[in-house]
Amino acid sequence: MASNGVLLLLTFIHLSIGHAAFVHLEVRAENVGKYGQQSLLECVYIPSQEAKDGKLVWVYWKKEGVEDALLSFHKGSTRGKPAYSFAEPSWNTTNRNVSLLITNTSVKDEGEYTCNVMTESGDGIKKTHLRVTAKYNKPAIKLDPRTSTLMCESDSGYPEGQLRWFDEFGTEWTKSSQMEAKKIESGLFNLSSKLTLMDGSTFSSYTCKVFNVSGGKEEEATYTVQEPEKREGNKVDGTTKVVAPLLVIGSLIVGLLLLMLLLYKRRSQLVRRFSTRPLIMGDHQPVDTCDSPVEQGEDQSCPDSPA
Ligand SMILES: *[C@@H]1O[C@H](CO)[C@@H](O)[C@H](O)[C@H]1NC(C)=O
Ligand SMILES: *[C@@H]1O[C@H](CO)[C@@H](O)[C@H](O)[C@H]1NC(C)=O
Repeated sequence: MASNGVLLLLTFIHLSIGHAAFVHLEVRAENVGKYGQQSLLECVYIPSQEAKDGKLVWVYWKKEGVEDALLSFHKGSTRGKPAYSFAEPSWNTTNRNVSLLITNTSVKDEGEYTCNVMTESGDGIKKTHLRVTAKYNKPAIKLDPRTSTLMCESDSGYPEGQLRWFDEFGTEWTKSSQMEAKKIESGLFNLSSKLTLMDGSTFSSYTCKVFNVSGGKEEEATYTVQEPEKREGNKVDGTTKVVAPLLVIGSLIVGLLLLMLLLYKRRSQLVRRFSTRPLIMGDHQPVDTCDSPVEQGEDQSCPDSPA
């Protein structure tokens, strides 16, 4: 690893400056521990050529802000707090790997540690940092139908992460949401976010994604808006809303047309009755007069009729 190489080089520079530092310690500057799991803080000492035969006098691990040593070896005995041990199983003084193992990593284990080694020919001290992470749980989404609000919750993560909302087309809706991060007793965070669905602009599904502090996506959950019946119902309602008045108007028009037709028929019948009467009468009168034997000779327009 390149960083290890750089560390080695830096330590050599350090060694050449400090006259008593005959023991070179190799540590990783930054370590990541997973919550609830074991964390390893590496520390291996390499004595300089001159200090090669020097026996180990003591080793101790300390944490910034903690008075007592977390783990120590001195005069043949190893002492430590329950959660700490040498990482090497059955470690002894001939083993130069004095790495520290933290059994059940918690949020409060985060911080600055020092690895201290002293041999008969010199000593060394090195700092190393532990960062703790906890992966957030898969989010759970609930709908509050009263307020038309989607609530997304993702628990037990560290450090503080972020919940973001996306619709089925991948458009982000986080700006319309409200997020809250609650620190619980264990030091972990419970995240919750509210997204209010607006009337008319509702998508068929919403995805809530949980991102860690460095912006990496950890988990996601999708909520399908559980109203297909209601939605279809709305559509049916919508169409009936349009169709119903149309039907009413339509039947009114048809009815009106029928009424008009009826009235027209009636009127034309009446008109015919009224207009035909005099015609019939007029038609009949001359015939009648022609038929009358008295006027026959005078009126030439009268057709010949059998005498
Ligand atoms: C030190 O010991 C630990 C635990 O056995 C091991 O994981 C690590 O690789 C060792 N480091 C070196 C540099 O040997
Ligand atoms: C964040 O998530 C990314 C992708 O999953 C991961 O590589 C990274 O280590 C995570 N960072 C932290 C601080 O958890």
